[in-house]
Amino acid sequence: MPIAAQSSQLSSTETLYLSGLSLVCVAVLVRAFEGEGEPLVASLALSGIAFAASYAMIRWLGPTFIKAGLKGRDLSKVNNSNYIPECMGGICAVVYLLIIIVFIPFPFYKDIVVATSGGGNRDVVMNVEFVQQGRLLHKFPHSKLASYLSAIISLQSITLLGIGDDLFDIRWRHKFFIPAFASLPLLVIYFIDFGVTSIVLPTFLQPYVGRELFDLGILYYGYMSAFSIFSPNSINILAGVNGIEVSQSIVIALLLAFNDALYLLTPYPHPATDSHLFSLYFLLPFLGVSFALLIHNWYPARVFCGDTYCYFAGMVFVVVSILGHFSKTLILLLVPQIFNFVYSTPQLFGLIPCPRHRLPHFNARTGQLEPSVTKWEKDKQPRPIIAAALRLLSQLRLLRLKEDEQGLIEETSNLTVLNLWLVWRGPMREDRLAKEITAMQAVLGLFGLFVRHKLALLIFREDNLNIRSAV
Ligand code: UD1
Ligand code: MG
Repeated sequence: MPIAAQSSQLSSTETLYLSGLSLVCVAVLVRAFEGEGEPLVASLALSGIAFAASYAMIRWLGPTFIKAGLKGRDLSKVNNSNYIPECMGGICAVVYLLIIIVFIPFPFYKDIVVATSGGGNRDVVMNVEFVQQGRLLHKFPHSKLASYLSAIISLQSITLLGIGDDLFDIRWRHKFFIPAFASLPLLVIYFIDFGVTSIVLPTFLQPYVGRELFDLGILYYGYMSAFSIFSPNSINILAGVNGIEVSQSIVIALLLAFNDALYLLTPYPHPATDSHLFSLYFLLPFLGVSFALLIHNWYPARVFCGDTYCYFAGMVFVVVSILGHFSKTLILLLVPQIFNFVYSTPQLFGLIPCPRHRLPHFNARTGQLEPSVTKWEKDKQPRPIIAAALRLLSQLRLLRLKEDEQGLIEETSNLTVLNLWLVWRGPMREDRLAKEITAMQAVLGLFGLFVRHKLALLIFREDNLNIRSAV
């Protein structure tokens, strides 16, 4: 019997926990709405509901997805003849979007009261004529709502692309630019609302350039749209081991949320507090749906997340970092993804053959993963310059290369971080590889934040965390 069919029902313990969690969250939500609307508390409660809803729906809808043809074989298992549901990230994305939409009134609660009843006081009685003359709507922060809605449009667009890709396996050249279109609403809002396109120059460069800021102008928008293409794709190509797509995204989201929380501790009003709060509102429900998926996608996977999840996760990071004005900080948290992409380029750009799957090779005899390889026939050797580059990488221990007795290249390991890790650390079980890569992501990310807030002071005059508000 297929694994998915066995477990599509929730156990009684699971039902109990999920119902309990949902009830507590609904109660917290109702309290928040009765009070001042406390958006952060409401966001936490909605994230709990998002977790419970995704968890249950991933289970219930598994067989339906298989029936619809959204299924895949786990290539790193002994018995991989069973199909398990694919594209389960689609459920997470849809639950997330609905939750984010339900959340809209909360961050604007106080503003809605001010704009509709006057003076922020719900007891105020207004004359009909006054109401018709205008309900103080000019006081409503329309620009903030526009940011919020633009984020939703971008995330919806990327979810459409992901589901399309999972259904039709769209070719790289056809889907490459779509995330840049999806990010257009964000860029428009950035232009209108913030518009900062200059970067602070390191102090040691300032005397030569003669100024503190360097304006990148339109290039800054080019950089942000390039990043919206890079981020979703970079998550999707650091994949192929149970759980790794989701666990890397959770680590990045947790680190971003931690960075946001640092700004909440500064005395209010700090100029960056609101944009970091905005970021938290988008990250907390993302963490809710992602944990529900991780439980099912972790080794041994009962579902696959699909490209939908990878694109969607990457776009959540783009959304929060552009609208939260910290797109450069995100780079520090994506170091493993950037390395994996740069390291992959010879295969992605066709200099070295790129098989459909580059995931590590499962050795059924030992039950462990080994680096997967590209084979080179005697009469189809790489061009001399590429062969030299491959040999150099091998000498630098950045590749495993096997030669025959005549010195011809027989095989080279595929150029992904997962394979490289196995070259360095030797064969290991799938879950161990996933844990080690996730831990590496967390350590590098924490170091990135440390660099951002502490070491950066060596080359910049100040960290914006310490800037006092002029408001
Ligand atoms: C990307 C990678 C590809 C890798 C694949 C695995 C590039 C350019 N592409 O392709 O090398 O093999 O992800 O996700 O680097 N699968 C497993 N175990 C897992 C996850 C996936 O066996 O833990 C297999 C399943 O058969 C699943 C399929 O991979 O159905 C999904 O692959 P898909 O996400 O469509 O591959 P790509 O994103 O195109
Ligand atoms: Mg994929």
